[in-house]
This record gives sequence, C-alpha cells and structure tokens, in this order.
Amino acid sequence: MTRFSFDLHNTDGKARTGVIHTPRGDIRTPAFMPVGTAATVKAMMPESVAATGADILLGNTYHLMLRPTAERVDRMGGLHKFMNWDKPILTDSGGFQVMSLADLRKLTEDGVTFKSHVDGSKHFLSPERSMEIQKLLGSDIVMCFDECPALPADEQTVAESMRLSMRWAQRSRDAFGDRPGHALFGIMQGGVTPHLREESAKALVDIGFEGYAIGGLAVGEGQEAMFGVLEYAPDFLPTDKPRYLMGVGKPDDIVGAVKRGVDMMDCVLPSRSGRTGQAWTHRGQVNIKNARHQDDPRPLDENCTCPCCRNYSRAYLHHVFRAKEMISGMLLTWHNLHYYQEIMAGMRGAIAKGEFAAWEADFHAKRAMGDI
Ligand code: GUN
Ligand code: ZN
Repeated sequence: MTRFSFDLHNTDGKARTGVIHTPRGDIRTPAFMPVGTAATVKAMMPESVAATGADILLGNTYHLMLRPTAERVDRMGGLHKFMNWDKPILTDSGGFQVMSLADLRKLTEDGVTFKSHVDGSKHFLSPERSMEIQKLLGSDIVMCFDECPALPADEQTVAESMRLSMRWAQRSRDAFGDRPGHALFGIMQGGVTPHLREESAKALVDIGFEGYAIGGLAVGEGQEAMFGVLEYAPDFLPTDKPRYLMGVGKPDDIVGAVKRGVDMMDCVLPSRSGRTGQAWTHRGQVNIKNARHQDDPRPLDENCTCPCCRNYSRAYLHHVFRAKEMISGMLLTWHNLHYYQEIMAGMRGAIAKGEFAAWEADFHAKRAMGDI
C-alpha cells in the first residue's frame, strides 16, 4: 500500500517542485486545490475539475458536519464516493469557518460551541471531534483544529490564540492516531510577528506532522504584509515536508507564495468569482458583465485551451451572464480553474528547469499589458 510521502524534486531559489504520494494518487507541487466546500466544486462536474488539471480538492468539516452531517457521508461510503471524486481530498478542520460563519460562538480551552448558520442548531467542535469528523468523511489530508484570530489583533491576543492552537495541535495529533495512508498537517499561527511564527513552528515540529500549513494569512492584512511573513515563515519549517498556505489567493499571490517556498494553496476565488462574472486570464482580470464585450467575437483568452475559450465568444459569455443562465457560472468557473492550473503547471515546469525567474517575469509582463 502506498504510504503518504513527499518527494522534493527541484528547488530554484526558494521555489520548490515535487510530488506528494498518496494511496488515491499523486499530487504534483506546487499544487492548487479547488474548493469543494459542500461536497461539490460549485458549477463543475468532478470529471471537469479533474480535466482542468487538479490533483486534489478541499472539503470543509464545518459545512459538511452541519449538512448532510459526517455520519451520513460515512453511511454513504465516504466523501469520495458520495461526491464521485476518487483523487485525494484535504479537509479543513472547522475552527476557521466557525469564526467567520457561525453565530453565537463560545470558545474555551476544550473547544468551541456555536450555532449553525444554516438552521440555528447548536454544535460543538474540538480537536477530538474535528479528527472524528474528518475520519468519517474519509479525508486523505486532515488539518489540525486551530483558531485563527480576527484581525486587527494586538500581539498579546495573537500570542495567546497561537498557544491555544498549539495545545490543540497536540490534541489533534493524539486523537488522529495511527492511520497509514492518511496525513495530518499542523497549522502555524502567530500573525505578522516573526518570533510568534517561530515559536509556533517549533511547537509543531516538536509534535511532528506529515505536512505544515501556514495559517492566519489572507485575513485582511494585504499582500505586502503577507509576503513579509512569507519571507521568513517557510524557513522555520522542515524542507522535506509539504508546506501549505491556507486560503490564498489571487494569481499574483500564488506566484509570490511559490517564489517564497510554498507548495500547496487553496482558494474559493477562481470558482466564486466565476459565478459573479469575473474571469482571470494571462492578461489580468476581466469583468464579463462590461458592455464592451457585447459584440466581441473573440474568446476570453486567445491562448487558453479550455472548453470556454475554445467554443464561446465574449459576446456569448456576456449574454449568458446578463441573462443569468446557469452556463455562465459553469463556463467561467471552468476557465478560471483551468487558468489557475495552467499557472501551477507553468511554475512546476519552470522550477524543474531552473527558470522560475524568467517564468515569473513573463507572467508579470503579460498582466501588465492589460486585457485585449
Ligand atoms: N483557512 C484560511 N486560513 C486558515 C487558518 O488560519 N486556519 C484554518 N484552519 N483554515 C484556514
Ligand atoms: Zn479559457
């Protein structure tokens, strides 16, 4: 049986490329994980998500525990079977989503009590319960249960929250147990304070995880502050384990993160913005609702090979968006996910050849030209 393992193949500056091996298949890194919060990547069939080049997708403990419940997913044979996705799935642990979505939250050393944003029912999450839920879901990469403080927060608050997350990381490790073929990732916290990031990384490395996430970023601090943390935070982590930057980001955030040593990322942006008429192309952002597209016979992106760009004009995409037709979200989501995966493949190839700097310069040069 394939165990969970990470092979680092090449580094170019701080950028890295490699492969994570899992019993459900390989994950080529740097990897972008589309978000399938509620057991679906919205507007996409799973085979279409795979066709964009995704090796793994992300699911959410918080949403699935509330609806349809982890126990029901388990009775249906697990999340992979339930949603018809047989490649790896990483699940987030729930704490972060409780803080942003749930009502009437009450946090203690033991865990967090909250009311569902769906129906107001009362629930409890703790490291132990989060590990149980992620096991019932059948997640391949399980995330520690952590707390991400809302920003802005003073250093004392960030420090206390980080230390609570580190105690929860130990409880997550203990509750996860011995599960060959499955991985548990720790989550570094510590805000934008270097010594807190270092303390957090040391605590996690002492416990020992199959991979390490950088949490608490992309929460409103801005790109400059995020890149500031990424200048040093990945260096606190072991080189031989995957590093996952949670909840990032726009195409230029992703490229900047890979440049600074990140191997995995996830974000709702390509799928969510696809449903609101926003597209991301080699030449930057395009708003398909803009009237300038209504007579334009050209595709969204001349150089894109996705089904949206091969078969449809900007005029058509503009029309179906304005007419609120479902195919609008389907086509733009497909294009956006395809574009994100093309960036990842481009970076993997460039890092392997030691040409990341040239690839990055070309990426920025095309965007600087602006949309056609
Ligand atoms: N998603 C984005 N940021 C975070 C974080 O800090 N923790 C968790 N669990 N999920 C996240
Ligand atoms: Zn396209």
